[in-house]
Amino acid sequence: MVKVALAKGRLEEEAFPFLERCGFRFEEKGERSLIVTDIEESLKIFIVKPADVPTYVSSGVVDVGICGTDSIVESQLKLIQPMKLPFGKAKMVVSGFEGFKMKNGSVTVATKFPVSAKLYFDSKGVDVKIVKLNGSVELAPLVGLAPLIVDIVQTGRTLRENGLSILDEIYPISAVVTLNDVSYRIKRGEILRFLERLERGCGREDLDRTR
Ligand code: PRP
Repeated sequence: MVKVALAKGRLEEEAFPFLERCGFRFEEKGERSLIVTDIEESLKIFIVKPADVPTYVSSGVVDVGICGTDSIVESQLKLIQPMKLPFGKAKMVVSGFEGFKMKNGSVTVATKFPVSAKLYFDSKGVDVKIVKLNGSVELAPLVGLAPLIVDIVQTGRTLRENGLSILDEIYPISAVVTLNDVSYRIKRGEILRFLERLERGCGREDLDRTR
């Protein structure tokens, strides 16, 4: 049985229909169930907070993680990423009011993603003060907490409805598969069969083998 940590929320909602396209079948799951096993008992899925997926994978509690690129970047863990998946598409972006101008090469940025924000502003040689928030980040420029935010944009609706614009794109996001290296050595055959099923569900054109 392959053990999988799956990011709860938006990704999870897309992941189950995708896994069904790959041929896995599930009983109706309870809304608060944290462990889901498929009918043929080849998969045991743990539903966890997106930011915790890399921790479950690196600790070896699970063999495989499915989460967004952002969770991997923020974890700062070096994890094997054999495959991008064809859902969870979004972008990590810098946003603020249109026409924002930086003063003295330094800026305050509100974000749920401090690692991504720091990497971006460091790469631009900008001295950045990061205000870590846990949600509703788009509020920060509106109330004067920070003129800029670094956040995920999917449909762009939240930015639009709050009068903010994308000022720069940092990196594209999609759901990705990550592997625990020890599990991969011990359960190689089983994990490869699982990846092949995902691959078939992706359709060849969507598969992007990065390693
Ligand atoms: C995420 C993200 C943006 C929004 C983007 O927040 O942080 O706020 O979704 O989506 P959109 O481009 O489709 O509008 P989430 O909905 O997870 O809620 P949060 O603000 O409480 O973190």
